[in-house]
Amino acid sequence: MELSKFCCSSLVFLISGIVLPAVVAAVGINYGQIANNLPSPDDVVPLVRSIGASRVKLYDADPRVLRAFANTGVEFIVGLGNEYLSKMRDPDKALAWVKANVQAYLPETNITCITVGNEILTFNDTSLNDNLLPAMQGVHAVLVNLGLDKQVSVTTAHSLAILETSYPPSAGAFRQDLIECITPILNFNVKTGSPFLINAYPFFAYKANPKQVPIDFVLFQPNQGVVDPDTNLHYDNMLFAQIDAVYSALASLGFKKLPVQISETGWPSKGDEDETGATIENAKKYNGNLIKLMSQKRGTPMRPNSDLNIYVFALFNENMKPGPTSERNYGLFKPDGTPAYPLGFSGIEVSSNTTTPGYSGNVNVTQPATSSTGYLSISSATVKFSSTDFSNIRLLCHAHLSYLIHRRKII
Ligand SMILES: *[C@@H]1O[C@H](CO)[C@@H](O)[C@H](O)[C@H]1NC(C)=O
Ligand SMILES: *[C@@H]1O[C@H](CO)[C@@H](O)[C@H](O)[C@H]1NC(C)=O
Ligand SMILES: *[C@@H]1O[C@H](CO)[C@@H](O)[C@H](O)[C@H]1NC(C)=O
Ligand SMILES: *[C@@H]1O[C@H](CO)[C@@H](O)[C@H](O)[C@H]1NC(C)=O
Repeated sequence: MELSKFCCSSLVFLISGIVLPAVVAAVGINYGQIANNLPSPDDVVPLVRSIGASRVKLYDADPRVLRAFANTGVEFIVGLGNEYLSKMRDPDKALAWVKANVQAYLPETNITCITVGNEILTFNDTSLNDNLLPAMQGVHAVLVNLGLDKQVSVTTAHSLAILETSYPPSAGAFRQDLIECITPILNFNVKTGSPFLINAYPFFAYKANPKQVPIDFVLFQPNQGVVDPDTNLHYDNMLFAQIDAVYSALASLGFKKLPVQISETGWPSKGDEDETGATIENAKKYNGNLIKLMSQKRGTPMRPNSDLNIYVFALFNENMKPGPTSERNYGLFKPDGTPAYPLGFSGIEVSSNTTTPGYSGNVNVTQPATSSTGYLSISSATVKFSSTDFSNIRLLCHAHLSYLIHRRKII
């Protein structure tokens, strides 16, 4: 498919007066731009619609993107880069940043959240750590002054590596050395009503030990799953186990009610020889199954009634990222706007009956084999993994640290 087709279809949207309803699917997508070959943001609007995404997360506050998505109903998280943290202690600089990067686009572009820094606490850079909360407070104070704090919240995104224990999920706990630093941040989240964001990648766990981690467990495919021995809750996929470990860690510090969002998760469609699992087939299963799961509006075993608020990583393959080949191949789309692989669902189905026709117009739509979503059937399985498998999984959940740091440094 060519870009011109997307332009045409965005014309169709205009002509037929179809506007994205604010309440479509809960699908969120990370729009990273470390590339020199991406389409113009105007051509990206129909791509975002084609996957039924109603929320977009940026790593910056790119004016071209924020303008292109004006009046689309799409919600935005904008990012304030790690390099700006120290400046936000200065109220004038914080005011200038918020005015130029947030206020200037409201209300046409629905910016609902600012992430101050990305995975700061796992950089092991104490000056960044020290600046994080003051920067969040500085940005929030500006929003209060501008009367925007009710519509725009302030938070930061964490790596899953802030956990010391993540398995079994009920034993989830923060790294001891981070507790002193993270507690006031959690208090800030509660006080200002902002969500706790976590980036979680079952891919890294699988890649580190493909022989021991059952691939179906990480790809949301039918499998026996595992039972948390302390709660008896049954887990049929690793992401849910990771998310519940986060809930447990929060609860152990007294933050039982803090809403959690998954600010990044995804699977690469290509990798180096030693990156087992990075294939088109697996990426298609991970992201396709994940998006289907989100459309079912089901929570995790520990929080069955909480909507999953997940941002898939990422919209595009990004050719200028350093690191292993996988880093440049997380995209649902190639830079020319064609799908990196068919996701196996239609946008209409994903966003159920609140969707307008035409969403699926640009993707290669393959109807899902309704019996193969597997998710429901897995839950009834009773066989458990052996206890040795538990310990493997626990270790593996943290195996991604160096990669995350590598990737995030440039963003
Ligand atoms: C922006 O998004 C929020 C959160 O979903 C919603 O409550 C609000 O109505 C939206 N605002 C506009 C102008 O669409
Ligand atoms: C950061 O510090 C923790 C705790 O001291 C350590 O386990 C981890 O390996 C460090 N990470 C890096 C990237 O240095
Ligand atoms: C849309 O979904 C709601 C809730 O699931 C249902 O009550 C309603 O009948 C559906 N509408 C259509 C047109 O299918
Ligand atoms: C859609 O994708 C499938 C599987 O990759 C392929 O066989 C088919 O030809 C594609 N259809 C279109 C219209 O591109």
